[in-house]
Amino acid sequence: MDVTPYSCMTRSQLEREYQTVQAAYKQCQEKKWNLNMSRGKPSKAQLDMVSGLLTQLQKPEDCMDGGVDTRNYGELAGLPSARAYWADMLDCKPSQIFVGGVASLNLMFDVVSRAYTHGLADSPRPWCREEKVKFLCPAPGYDRHFFIGESFGAEMIPIPMTPTGPDMDLVEEYVKDPQVKLIWNVPKYSNPDGIIYSEETVRRFANLKPAAPDFAIMWDNAYCVHQFQGEYVPFPDILSLCAEAGRPNMVYEFASTSKITFSGGGISCLASSESNIRYFTKLFGIQMISNDKVNQLRHVRYLQNKAHTLEIMKGHAAIMAPKFQVVSEYLNREIAPLGIAHWNDPKGGYFVSLYAMPGTAKRVWELCRDAGITMTEAGATYPYGKDPQDSNLRIAPSLPPVAELEQAMEVLCVCLKLAALEKLLNN
Ligand SMILES: Cc1ncc(COP(=O)(O)O)c(C=O)c1O
Repeated sequence: MDVTPYSCMTRSQLEREYQTVQAAYKQCQEKKWNLNMSRGKPSKAQLDMVSGLLTQLQKPEDCMDGGVDTRNYGELAGLPSARAYWADMLDCKPSQIFVGGVASLNLMFDVVSRAYTHGLADSPRPWCREEKVKFLCPAPGYDRHFFIGESFGAEMIPIPMTPTGPDMDLVEEYVKDPQVKLIWNVPKYSNPDGIIYSEETVRRFANLKPAAPDFAIMWDNAYCVHQFQGEYVPFPDILSLCAEAGRPNMVYEFASTSKITFSGGGISCLASSESNIRYFTKLFGIQMISNDKVNQLRHVRYLQNKAHTLEIMKGHAAIMAPKFQVVSEYLNREIAPLGIAHWNDPKGGYFVSLYAMPGTAKRVWELCRDAGITMTEAGATYPYGKDPQDSNLRIAPSLPPVAELEQAMEVLCVCLKLAALEKLLNN
């Protein structure tokens, strides 16, 4: 059946379509759904799949690792085997790793917080002494990165994302300003666009010449091994590239097992130059004596190394891929012919980034909410929650089972149509 794009419909065709879609929306509401596509949480099936983690350490002797009793204080920078594990994952040296607790976000917050209170290794002048501090925020991006900047009162400057990563011409221009102190990045399967930074983008990052001596590249590699379609995509080691370019202390890389083992119950890491790791280990030593090395050890025993972790990721992929397929099928069938939205088709990560007709994202979100579908709030993917186009919505399909996801996508498609029709008819 031929479908006319909304932009080619006459007013009376639009009015007729509006009646039909509004009736469909009413039917959705009557079903009283309570479905959630808001946060990137693994599903129960994924958590069950990795629950072998629970039985790794059964007896007191199991808690010994190379002469270290993991049940006791010590090894603040991480169990040597856990540092070696992360070094293998990120292709760097164990001495460049600090193994954190259950959340990489905590480490990111700590780096920013210490920059404000104590200063970074290359400049002991704390950021709180600066008249103004500016953060570059590739957008759409991860809302929690933006919350950190907002909580410290940094001025956040959105940088448009392109298919190869942030607009690097703009980044290179902005870093000439000494008040620009930091840029956030999710370089692989970015949240929410699912973009992998090109080699050229990564190289340009490593070769940045910022005016601020303590400029920090925050390299949140949360999805470094999270492909659900196709093979593992190798990734350049940003630490070596920054060192080769003469600024080894400029980059702070983060990763965690939050979406490999248990979310909120995994292990995390900060990877950086050896001197940054020494500096931060000293600072962290003021706030704690040791992280949970029992958890570090059971992760090392269960995940073993990068090769074995990639095998486990194939199990996650088998559960995740059909869900992304559902999202893609619904959007392609229901929305593409109408020409009212576009979206990314990621091969990894946790999100589909959907661009609704400009000026309708907030309305789509409200319509979804009123029909029982929870989505990440429209605007959340931009600093200060302000999407200048009011267009981007983040779909997180991982948590609901496929049957529920199908229902949720059906409702979302109706809401996208209804919001677009309201807008077109009001214009
Ligand atoms: C880009 C990104 N970074 C970090 C996190 C959180 O990681 P963690 O659980 O290690 O704090 C998430 C979770 O959704 C994320 O999408």
